[in-house]
Amino acid sequence: MKFILNGNAVNFQGETDTPLLWVIREHFRLTGSKFGCGIGACGACTVQVDGKAVRSCCYPLRLVEGCHVVTIEGLGAERRHPVQQAWIDEDVPQCGYCQSGMIMAVSAALAQKPRPTEQQLIRQISNLCRCATYHRIRAAVKRLTQ
Ligand code: FES
Repeated sequence: MKFILNGNAVNFQGETDTPLLWVIREHFRLTGSKFGCGIGACGACTVQVDGKAVRSCCYPLRLVEGCHVVTIEGLGAERRHPVQQAWIDEDVPQCGYCQSGMIMAVSAALAQKPRPTEQQLIRQISNLCRCATYHRIRAAVKRLTQ
């Protein structure tokens, strides 16, 4: 399976129904994407495939053939992404476990619809935070939409 991972061409030979999350974490050792629920409900595993946020715990490897996959490690590799900066400015994370997925979801939404309203952006994010830092997530989203 050939695809681009964080800007690098990679070739991974494995079962095509392997969840992308395991390939990213176990084979490529990019552990910023987290395992939460494993059923596509929480979003802790969110990465971007061709710019779209996907839940990699239930995204089969075969769907990434020829695609650009970006993880949290690749998002701010050259310079900090504005979403990452907003997260820092609002001191969003508590335990931090879900935050890479949250940031990947927000940055994908912003890339697909630049300059959304706060409400439009919030409505696109269905990731869950087990520390319930939603008030700070909302503050960061507000900062991004001003
Ligand atoms: Fe993938 Fe929860 S771990 S959605």
